[in-house]
Amino acid sequence: MSEAPHESPVKTPGQLIAVIIASFAIPIILIVLFANYANHAFRAGAGTDALSDEQVAARIAPLAQVEVKDANAPRTYKTGEAVYKAVCVTCHGTGAAGAPKFGNKDDWAPRISQGFDTLLKTALAGKGAMPPRGGTSPDDVSDYEIARAIVYMANNDGANFPEPAAPAANAAQPASGAAGASSPADAASAQIAAAQAAIAAIPKAGEQPAAAPASADAATAGKALYSSTCVACHGAGVLGAPKFGSKEDWAPRLKDSMDTVYNYALHGKGAMPPKGGSNASDADVKAAVDYMVNSAK
Ligand code: HEC
Ligand code: HEC
Repeated sequence: MSEAPHESPVKTPGQLIAVIIASFAIPIILIVLFANYANHAFRAGAGTDALSDEQVAARIAPLAQVEVKDANAPRTYKTGEAVYKAVCVTCHGTGAAGAPKFGNKDDWAPRISQGFDTLLKTALAGKGAMPPRGGTSPDDVSDYEIARAIVYMANNDGANFPEPAAPAANAAQPASGAAGASSPADAASAQIAAAQAAIAAIPKAGEQPAAAPASADAATAGKALYSSTCVACHGAGVLGAPKFGSKEDWAPRLKDSMDTVYNYALHGKGAMPPKGGSNASDADVKAAVDYMVNSAK
């Protein structure tokens, strides 16, 4: 009575045992449930194999894979479209640097009218700002692939060129590097190589013989410019240039007015580069034309 008895809910030994068991079992059950819960994110849903080894390997595969080329394997050729998209699109996609633009029929019509063979020759040899083969090496892009790219571009814009024939045998490919001038195509490329060498020899800006001030005697200036520059192509008549001294070559050209002929010399025509690739004055170029024309009268 002096002290209020502390009443425990546990009154019997049976209850004591139950409490002791519960105080062990409840935390253990909770721990098991928590562990189970924490683990469940890593288990795949029934019916998927998203965690299978193959799937994981595919997902973590590196982006870039090296493909080893077997040099002896038969060559597979890229399509015209593939070559265009890999190379030519740089300039022809936008019409940069005066390149005939892909999708622009007006740009292409005058080119197409030259015929496929001329286009191929020009594309392989280069022209103005167009680098030979579009800047590719023959090891990477064969003549055949360049030809296909031309057909792809030209046919997109109005031409109807047939798909070029594939090279007869892959084995014949390496041999073509050593140009034996046996076929017309080889002869043409030998000519182009000769012309390119000649063009490379043309004095560039600054190196121009300072001797030819425009005021000098026109005939002398014309002859000097001819001898330093125009002779590279007109001397032997390479690339279809009218040959110096040849009446047959010049007569059809001279049916045009001299203004027209001057104009071609100043602004270029086909394989004829503007001013023959020089930076001579207009007067000197005209004088060189006169000099050549007079030689063929
Ligand atoms: C660096 C820019 C550039 C690249 C790359 C380029 N071209 Fe050209 N291409 C030009 C330019 C500029 C012209 C116009 C040349 C001219 O008429 O003076 C041209 C003209 C041409 C012509 C017309 C030639 C003619 O006789 O009128 C053909 C065909 C051609 N390119 C094909 C190709 C092919 C095929 C490729 C890709 C393999 C290619 N080009 C890549 C700049 C380029
Ligand atoms: C890279 C070679 C090359 C050089 C260098 C060269 N020409 Fe030409 N020239 C040609 C070609 C090719 C033709 C024919 C073009 C055509 O008809 O398609 C030609 C044509 C001409 C024509 C005739 C145009 C016509 O049909 O009426 C004249 C004029 C001419 N060149 C003047 C010159 C003069 C002047 C020089 C030097 C300043 C010169 N050429 C330098 C290649 C060249």
